[in-house]
Amino acid sequence: MSSSLIAQHHTRAQAQAKATELHAKASPDFAVKLLETQTLLQRAATEFLPVTQASSLGAEDVVITHLINGMQLNLPVFVLETGALHTETLALLERTQAQSQAPIQVFHPVQSSVMAFVRERGQDAMYQSIEMRKACCQVRKLEPLNRALQGQRGWITGLRQEQSNARAHVPLIDESDVASKNLYKFNPLARWTWGDVWHYIAENGVDYNPLHDQFFPSIGCAPCTRAISLGEEFRAGRWWWENEAAKECGLHVKK
Ligand code: ADX
Ligand code: SF4
Repeated sequence: MSSSLIAQHHTRAQAQAKATELHAKASPDFAVKLLETQTLLQRAATEFLPVTQASSLGAEDVVITHLINGMQLNLPVFVLETGALHTETLALLERTQAQSQAPIQVFHPVQSSVMAFVRERGQDAMYQSIEMRKACCQVRKLEPLNRALQGQRGWITGLRQEQSNARAHVPLIDESDVASKNLYKFNPLARWTWGDVWHYIAENGVDYNPLHDQFFPSIGCAPCTRAISLGEEFRAGRWWWENEAAKECGLHVKK
């Protein structure tokens, strides 16, 4: 093989490397973390009902849904289908709906609000200003999230401390919305590393979004997510044109 062919071959092999092969590496105390996670899910499903899992179908969330199903917990799952998700994510949603014991509920934005926003602001509004991007998130994510959480006493997310500076202190149980909304937020993977997440996925053969094999560690809507390069931060591919401080869509922003 000529040297350029070998180089091409290597590049292609690298591009096709599975996320499980690249990232799976359990922490020394993984067994303790797993037990902590299972104990928290068990508590949520017995002491705090009704509780529901918020799933973006990202790596963390497929782990949590797998645990809910494995432990046969009474915890339904909801997905905010923004109308701007990647086809890979939509395909995984369909497979998850077909395979999960726990019910998967899909919340869509109000179609007339999306149409009005696109008519007035255009389909590329999110790139024009942070305000416009947040307005899009409001219509496509936050309003549906409010509907998804109506009547719930708790919700479960895949937030991890390692994901960003803003998330460095994510607790296992977040009580900051209890006084105002009577709503607990459970973050059962708060202490897991990226290596732990992929160790669990590899060990248990969990179905995952193939975009993770193409260097998308954090996956949101298609227009607002890109692959990251070597050395870039975990969330560098989310709203990459904005500065670090702005990079939350509002699902987890503290008022
Ligand atoms: S975001 O705020 O920047 O979009 P991120 O993608 O890191 O959040 O996901 C963090 C957690 O928020 C996920 O683990 C999941 O619990 C919840 N989440 C994010 N996007 C969605 C979605 N589309 N549907 C349901 N839950 C979601
Ligand atoms: Fe709109 Fe992008 Fe927010 Fe999705 S992430 S709701 S496309 S601005």
